[in-house]
Amino acid sequence: MSLGRIESGRALAALAAGAVLAGGCAGEFPQTTFRPVSEYGEALNAVFTNTFWWTMFILVLVQVLVVYVVLRFRERPNQPPPPQIHGNTKLELLWTIIPAIIVILISVPTVRTIFETQRRPAEDALEIEVIGHQWWWEYRYPEYGVVTANEFHLPIGREIHFRIRSADVIHSFWIPRLGGKRDANPVVARAEGERAMENHIVLTVSEPGRYRGQCAEFCGESHGIMATTAVAVSPEEFDAWVASMQDAGPPPAPAQPATVPGDTSSRATANPPTPQAAQVVDSLAALPPTDVAQEDPLIAQGRQIFTSRACVACHAIANTNARGTLGPNLTRFGSRPYVGAGAKPNTIEHVEAWIRDPQSLKPGALMPGTQTEAAGMPPTGLTDEEVRAVAAYLVSLK
Ligand code: CUA
Repeated sequence: MSLGRIESGRALAALAAGAVLAGGCAGEFPQTTFRPVSEYGEALNAVFTNTFWWTMFILVLVQVLVVYVVLRFRERPNQPPPPQIHGNTKLELLWTIIPAIIVILISVPTVRTIFETQRRPAEDALEIEVIGHQWWWEYRYPEYGVVTANEFHLPIGREIHFRIRSADVIHSFWIPRLGGKRDANPVVARAEGERAMENHIVLTVSEPGRYRGQCAEFCGESHGIMATTAVAVSPEEFDAWVASMQDAGPPPAPAQPATVPGDTSSRATANPPTPQAAQVVDSLAALPPTDVAQEDPLIAQGRQIFTSRACVACHAIANTNARGTLGPNLTRFGSRPYVGAGAKPNTIEHVEAWIRDPQSLKPGALMPGTQTEAAGMPPTGLTDEEVRAVAAYLVSLK
């Protein structure tokens, strides 16, 4: 085999290896900006594509000219020095006018897109307040009185007006396939009103799906674990979701045990229940009868523990007495993909691990564990059995 053949064989092998490697790059890319699902994302992608191809054109043109000049005008043996010239009006006009035209072709669509994406929201736009926290996202729907965390729903085809701010340090709200990226700034009260510090994104999502996002501004040790998911659904599904998230208030206090006429020996007096069992019975009594028949006692126990301990100081769950607003709202927690804003997949084991020691999954998390304090709050002191019950309860909230 000749040297030339070996060389071309190597080149082919290198090409094939390159193609295989590049093929490995094909994948899901949940956080790509190149497959936008809103008019905002499409506008940004168009600006990128336009700028990209112009810069490619310049790159290729300059490289071809460089190679041409190097070959054409290289020094040859015994060659006399070339004629010395100064200035070339034609060339100078060309390399001034052509770049000027390219700058116009890039800047006009860019400026137009800036204005398009900064437009005021329509009157009937759906307002979603986005609040960055260390290290999770809170979403409020003032129109519906719904609050959720990390995973939020939005209807396709309706304009969404994100009003973005922070509860602590600067974060950045970014769901790449939706388009747009905006800092979430701490709100400082001002004479002209608190809204002055908010940032806005106005867009309409056109395609149903789950779109992952991530905090895009370094905001402390768990900045990397501050993911979020937008769930875009049809208007009908969105209405159903809103209804399932709305809070009708805590259930009424358990009614007095009904006495059957003639039955004087109630079971409760015959077999006095343990205090724990009595609490479980109490919480069961508050449920509609169908749920009582189906409910796992572990879940009932978990609900009882959650709603009677310190959990309710920070967390809220619709239709219970949990009303805290410091931590994430946990309504329908079991339907979320992650525990801890992207820390781990939402499985019962991970939820148990989180309740036991949140900092083991997310350094710096502000929630105390069973044996560890956090943010000035004492350990919860929950036993392993109680942790299991609370995790079972939370995961059951679908
Ligand atoms: Cu929040 Cu980075």
